[in-house]
Amino acid sequence: MEIISLLNNETESSSHQDQFAIDVLMALSSSPKSLSSKYFYDDVGSDLFQKITQHEDYYPTKTEFSILDQIKDELPELLNEKVIDIIELGAGDGHKTSLLLNGFLDADCEVNYYPIDISEQAMQQLGENMEGHANLHIKGVVAEYCRGLRYVRDHSKNKALVLFLGSNIGNFDRVQSQGFLRRIWQSMEPEDYVLIGFDLKKPVDVLVRAYNDSAGYTRDFNLNILQRINNELGANFQLDKFQHYGIYNPVLGAMESYLLSLESQTVYIEKLRHSFEFDAFEPLHLEYSFKYLESDIHYLSERTGYEVMKNFTDENHRFMNSLWRVSKG
Ligand SMILES: C[S@@+](CC[C@H](N)C(=O)[O-])C[C@H]1O[C@@H](n2cnc3c(N)ncnc32)[C@H](O)[C@@H]1O
Repeated sequence: MEIISLLNNETESSSHQDQFAIDVLMALSSSPKSLSSKYFYDDVGSDLFQKITQHEDYYPTKTEFSILDQIKDELPELLNEKVIDIIELGAGDGHKTSLLLNGFLDADCEVNYYPIDISEQAMQQLGENMEGHANLHIKGVVAEYCRGLRYVRDHSKNKALVLFLGSNIGNFDRVQSQGFLRRIWQSMEPEDYVLIGFDLKKPVDVLVRAYNDSAGYTRDFNLNILQRINNELGANFQLDKFQHYGIYNPVLGAMESYLLSLESQTVYIEKLRHSFEFDAFEPLHLEYSFKYLESDIHYLSERTGYEVMKNFTDENHRFMNSLWRVSKG
């Protein structure tokens, strides 16, 4: 599989690692302190994420897999294209996407698949997982979502289906998600398509279990972002002095992930030549995972320039994959 990296071109003057350092500086200087979840996925993070998705407490991946398995033949019929660009934002290991690609290939469609991911490691894993096919052309793009999408659209004008699976949309708050979907819309042509995975609102115990799995993979996954800062930016975080804490916020309608500092401590980051003070039990915010009602999904599409073609859900109404058409003018 051919892979192109756009990361070092993203800002004229700074490499990806400089950008990581700047983001960490800003996030740890803010109040409350935070770190961006886009930095979860180094080698160890990608492996841990795979373990989370396979754990029985974590329902989203297996539920979305079952939905995609159900719709893999219907989707090519609904779109009715002979050639299509399937562009996946935050593709990860592409495990679920293979189902959809095979559906299009079985329908004799020629598929150009462009997985986009900020993690080089995830992209390499995807390359190892993908099976070859005469009608399947894969070009991986290592980049931020919107930068990667613009690059693909600048190089191809085929009918496009953008995939945004795995409930990645839930990492944006309600306002950010509108801004993000509008940016996607700007890169697309009328009658192009988007398929988005939304995690639905559900009983809190199911949610809390999923983000606090009994094997501790989610805990290790969240702590690994500190290890990544130690490895790549020369920090001295002591991981056993932080506690993973995942809760549901019913006012926001979101799961929230934190690391809590177990004592008052100072952490030094060599690359930034800067120390950061943590109070005892001070929270470090890592991630939101917003949950949706079906009515929220319709509202979001109307606000951002799409029309809902069809919603697909599982028998327990835990997850929804929503197929949208781009409408312009
Ligand atoms: C939760 S995983 C989901 C992977 C896959 N879509 C799935 O459903 O299993 C999120 C993926 O999005 C990527 N990602 C996160 N933020 C990103 C960004 N701003 N731009 C590009 N990729 C991003 C991560 O590297 C990771 O591989």
